[in-house]
Amino acid sequence: MKLVTCGLPYANGMLHVGHLRTYIPADVYVRYLRMMGEEVVFICGSDCHGTPIVVNAEKEGMKPEEFIEKYHEHFIRVFNALDVKFDYFGKTTEEHHHERTKEIVKRLIENGYVYKKEIELAYCEKCERFLPDRYVEGICPYCKSPARGDECDQGCGRHLEPGEILEPKCKICGNNAVFRKQTHYFFKLTAFEEFLRDYLSKLSGTENALNYAREWIGNLKDWCITRNLEWGVRFPLDESLVLYVWVDAPIGYISFTEKATKDWKKIWLEGKAEIIHFIGLDIAYHHCIFWPAMLKGSGYSLPSAVVASGMVKIEGKTFSKSRGYVVWVEDEYLKAGFNPDYLRYYIVNYTSHDKDLNFSWDVLKDKVNNEIIATLGNFLFRILSFAWKNFGKLEMEVEDRVLERIKETKEKIVNAINKWEFKSASDAIMELASFGNVYFQNSKAWELLKSDKKKAMKVVANCLQIAKALMILSYPVMPKSMEKVAMAIGLKLSNCSLQDALKVDKEIEIKKPELPFKKIEDEDIEPLKKILVERFSGKINSEIALEDFKKLDLRVGKIMSAERIKNSKKLLKLIVDVGDEKRQIVAGLAENYSPEELIGKLVVVLVNLKSAKLMGVESRGMILAVDVAGKPILLTPEKEVKAGERIK
Ligand code: 2FM
Ligand code: ZN
Repeated sequence: MKLVTCGLPYANGMLHVGHLRTYIPADVYVRYLRMMGEEVVFICGSDCHGTPIVVNAEKEGMKPEEFIEKYHEHFIRVFNALDVKFDYFGKTTEEHHHERTKEIVKRLIENGYVYKKEIELAYCEKCERFLPDRYVEGICPYCKSPARGDECDQGCGRHLEPGEILEPKCKICGNNAVFRKQTHYFFKLTAFEEFLRDYLSKLSGTENALNYAREWIGNLKDWCITRNLEWGVRFPLDESLVLYVWVDAPIGYISFTEKATKDWKKIWLEGKAEIIHFIGLDIAYHHCIFWPAMLKGSGYSLPSAVVASGMVKIEGKTFSKSRGYVVWVEDEYLKAGFNPDYLRYYIVNYTSHDKDLNFSWDVLKDKVNNEIIATLGNFLFRILSFAWKNFGKLEMEVEDRVLERIKETKEKIVNAINKWEFKSASDAIMELASFGNVYFQNSKAWELLKSDKKKAMKVVANCLQIAKALMILSYPVMPKSMEKVAMAIGLKLSNCSLQDALKVDKEIEIKKPELPFKKIEDEDIEPLKKILVERFSGKINSEIALEDFKKLDLRVGKIMSAERIKNSKKLLKLIVDVGDEKRQIVAGLAENYSPEELIGKLVVVLVNLKSAKLMGVESRGMILAVDVAGKPILLTPEKEVKAGERIK
């Protein structure tokens, strides 16, 4: 038996593409394991405690309970839409989670791993309260960067213990805080050094996580596990304190397993299952050091693997919510109507799981159009339509060479999945589809149809076997799409094992195939690319030098002609007189201006913009407009001036 978990998302914000790097591969992994015959429990849930949630709920004038509910529901909606199917998706506010957490902490206390100590903590005299974690900001004692109370988020990335931050300021009122003495409780992490050294030498998973954790081993410090907050799991020895969020969050893995299966004790107490944690690399320390020590100290079973995904970039830039490099899954991807399977494929196939993944709308378009559609979709659709039109029902006789090729693919996938190499697994699928395309092309079945129908049927039977294998083998990556395709041969993929890819039916009846793939057009992604550019430029508020402004060749232009561009709702092709020449410029004005009303208009043109092609039409320059709720309003000089006048 295997338990697969995903890092619990904080119920503190919407899901973005960065999050999906953990959840989608984990779901693909679980689906493959099940198709290999493994018994798997797959759990996750909302991480509902911690100061950021309290601080943000306060900011929005909401109670933490309401605040987290909003995000919890969002998570459930998005995971459903993306076919990420947990057996249980819980919340750390659930009562049984609090009970399990207290039980584990009591065991740690009984086993002598918790001690109390008086420490100096940041205290705000104006707000009359201690300032835990995010309630305080100041300077990192290690690298002297600005930092938050619990983490040097802008500098060296270290976890900061309560009382460590220098020059603390209260985040609520902005006043300088003072240090005051208070008693808190500590977890004796340092007692686990030997154990961890040994454990980490055996722990399996991705190298990025393991290497990172091994580096920390010589640097262990005891953890303060209590906080002055109302929101959280009460500390059993002192009800006025709550436990630090990183104590109760991972215990969610246990409490959610309790809800998912009656076998939870086998998994967490009897060591009869493999426990595999999927996480982002930023929380490797917590999962490879802190969490195993807590489990060891309380007598629970230890994880056997930690699988950490690499970082995410957006259009080549390091992911950053505050700088605008973020793609929101629900509002930007799902609401735009893209097939969720495209994103699933992109995320597993872009690069190895532990390498940096770049999300780019253009790359999405290329991967979808050239790989999913031109290679896999093309083969499936071609062969299914051909079989349906010409045969309807086929006797299945399959060459050894074809079965051998399918077997090789299946084995490649199994090996790759066992090593969390999702890219290799999905590449193997595309290679098999290419093999199918070549096989069909070379067989010239459409010619055989006229000369030797029996032979044609044999060719098609072989192709159909490849098609069936492709549906089965790619089902974990693209579940919804493959379910639709498989209806053409009456195959219920949810009942299939990977081994079924090699099973040859006596005969197959074909129904009219339906292809669930639609090409991505430039027009589909242009608005989304624009959102990113605008979000980013909206955040630029730094000053520029006059010389930089002078680099812009801005002129008054006169629109000489305007016409619509075929197949585009938005674009117009304009010829604009910019003084010394007449330029062709493509502008997104068609929804708001008719070509007729534009002719003769004076506009502002950025003349020295690099030329570009839009819908295959060359554009040299840009017409400036004000964007009012997505509608362009042209800028025009207040008095009649000659075309070509410089704007300074
Ligand atoms: O970093 C985070 O997003 C945390 N909410 C992850 C918690 S994972 C776990 F251990 F519960
Ligand atoms: Zn630092």
